[in-house]
Parts: sequence; C-alpha cells; structure tokens
Amino acid sequence: MIRGDCLPCSIVAGGQWGDEGKGKIVAYLALSDRPKIIARAGVGPNAGHTVIYKGKRYGLRQISCGFVYEGSRVLIGPGVLVNPDIVVKEAEETGIKERLGIDRHCAVIEPSHIEEDRTSEHLRGKIGTTGTGCGPANVARVSRVAKLAEEVKELEPYLADVPLEVNEAIERGDPVLIEGSQGFGLSLVHGTYPYVTSKDTSASTLAADVGVGPTNVDEVILVFKSYVSRVGAGPFPTEISQEEAERMGIVEYGTVTGRRRRIGKFDFEFAKRSAMINGATQLALTCIDRLFKGNRGVKKFEKLTGEAKAFIGRVEEEIGIPITLLSTGPRIEDIIDLRSEKL
Ligand code: IMP
Ligand code: MG
Repeated sequence: MIRGDCLPCSIVAGGQWGDEGKGKIVAYLALSDRPKIIARAGVGPNAGHTVIYKGKRYGLRQISCGFVYEGSRVLIGPGVLVNPDIVVKEAEETGIKERLGIDRHCAVIEPSHIEEDRTSEHLRGKIGTTGTGCGPANVARVSRVAKLAEEVKELEPYLADVPLEVNEAIERGDPVLIEGSQGFGLSLVHGTYPYVTSKDTSASTLAADVGVGPTNVDEVILVFKSYVSRVGAGPFPTEISQEEAERMGIVEYGTVTGRRRRIGKFDFEFAKRSAMINGATQLALTCIDRLFKGNRGVKKFEKLTGEAKAFIGRVEEEIGIPITLLSTGPRIEDIIDLRSEKL
C-alpha cells in the first residue's frame, strides 16, 4: 500500500524540559483519533504524565495516557525502561491488563539502580535526578548486563513484540500514536549536558524506542507549555524568581518527585531549535489558561482573550510551524483543536 493512502503514525514529543502537558494531549488525541495502537516511548518511569479522566486524576509513569481510549492496544516499546512494580500497579489502576503489551526487550530497573540514584552525590546532588533508577539502569543496558523484561516472571502475561505490532498496524493503515516522555532540553545528546536525562528525548529516538523507522512517521506533534518549567538542576536562561511566578499565580510541583518546579518565560530561540531537531510538523501549546487568566476551559479560538491570541500568533510566527492544539485546562475536553482548519 502507498503510505499516502494510510492513516497517520504520529509522535507526541516534549518541546521543553518535560511536564509540558503531553499526557493530556495524548489522551485527547486517543479519544478523538481512536488509534488502534498507542505506544509509550521515552526513558522510563522518571516521567510522570497526568491525565484527568472521568473525574479521576492519573499520574502515570509507564503506561500511556492514551489508555483512556478503550479500543486501543497499549504498548511499551523496547527502548523504554520498565520498573515491574510500577507497571503492574498502573496496569491494575487503569484496568487495562488485557490491552497492555510490554516489549520483551525492555530493560528492567532493579532496586540497586534506584539505590544508586538516591545515594550518588553526583546524580542526586548535582544533576537532580528523579531518583527512579533510570540512569543507572541505562548504564547497565549499555554495559550489556541489564535484565530484560522477558526474564521477569510478573511481566510474563504482558510480553509482546512491540515493533512487529506497531509496524503491522502501520502497514494495514491503522492509526498509531506514539507518546514520548521528558523534553528536548533533557536530551542526553541535544540538551543542557550534564543536566540531562540518560537518553536522547527527541522524536527520532522516540520512533526508534518503539521500532518505527523514520520513513514511517507522518506527524511529529511537539508540545510546548506557554511558559517554561524545569525540575532539577541546570541552565534555564528565561527563569524568573519564585516570587514573580507566584505573582503570576504559577506554582507547580513535579508529578514524580513532588519537587517545586522552577518557572520561566517562553524561550523562543530554544523553541525554534527544539522544533528543528524534532522535525515538528505541528505544535501543541498548553497551559494557556494559567498564563492568561480568563481562558479556562475555552473551546473556541475566537473566545480566547486578545492577549492569549496575540501570544499564540507570535509563537506560531516565530517557530514557523502551525499550532494545531491549544490546551486551556487540565481536563481532556479543555482543548481547542484547529487541525481541520490548519492542516
Ligand atoms: P533522571 O532522568 O531521573 O536521572 O533525571 C535527570 C534530570 O532530568 C533531572 O533534572 C530530572 O528532574 C529531569 N527529568 C527526568 N525525567 C523528567 C520528566 O519526566 N519531567 C521533568 N523532568 C525530568
Ligand atoms: Mg511530568
């Protein structure tokens, strides 16, 4: 079949330092586009993706927020690190045991990895790791001593060949949604080294994490928050003081670590580079309502305040890529979907 005839394979990637609101965007896309397959890419359970569904708040670290679409198979690609306790708990919490597939080659996070993250002066003190054992587990993988998912008994019921499933779906023309984690600035390759995570976080690696080749990716939806937040140490050129952030009414805490997030203004230069290296084809802009009061839950572009519209226009113009999704609140339905107008 000619690829042009198929429904798209889309990647959702973080454009900044993680916590851009990818979880909610993925949940929305899952419910609206009904992908047959939703595959989690990215580093591992150092991520915390939040979604509010049917009044319940989920802070998911391993399972994609796309689980909310009940017709989907929910997969975890072989590039992703797995903590068996966390993934089994989330499978129960989300009620998706029958739909979950974990690639047999996911490397496993062991208690010693978590211990190393928590006790290392360098990782904890200097870098500000989330303490979830991801860095040391990736070291074990690179050293070729890591345990794989197929060696863990509790994971047996879920074992899958994720690249095969994903590519067969693409071949059939079924929509596939790939959920990335972390953000561009945390990339081991492109980010603010050494204040980064333990792997590249850009769209190319997210595709590789689930076994999709670059020629099979149709859309890269890059998610930006209307301001910037960062947990952990490292450079942050547009950072503002905690007091200024408070005056703007922005106080946030990390989903995984509970640490207070550092806050800053939208960084246009950084965003341009992020869009370039991710190969973004669409942008999603989140937390419009937090930066510009009076926009909570707005569902039509025309109803946004003038200030918000002007900012959105400037982001689109400077980055030069269409903004197709605007998030105006934490609920899945708090969204403006401009895809039918802009694509
Ligand atoms: P690690 O990946 O847990 O070792 O953490 C390394 C750096 O990346 C620290 O600054 C963390 O705060 C940051 N980090 C890792 N994962 C995430 C995430 O999902 N959201 C935000 N920051 C993250
Ligand atoms: Mg997060």
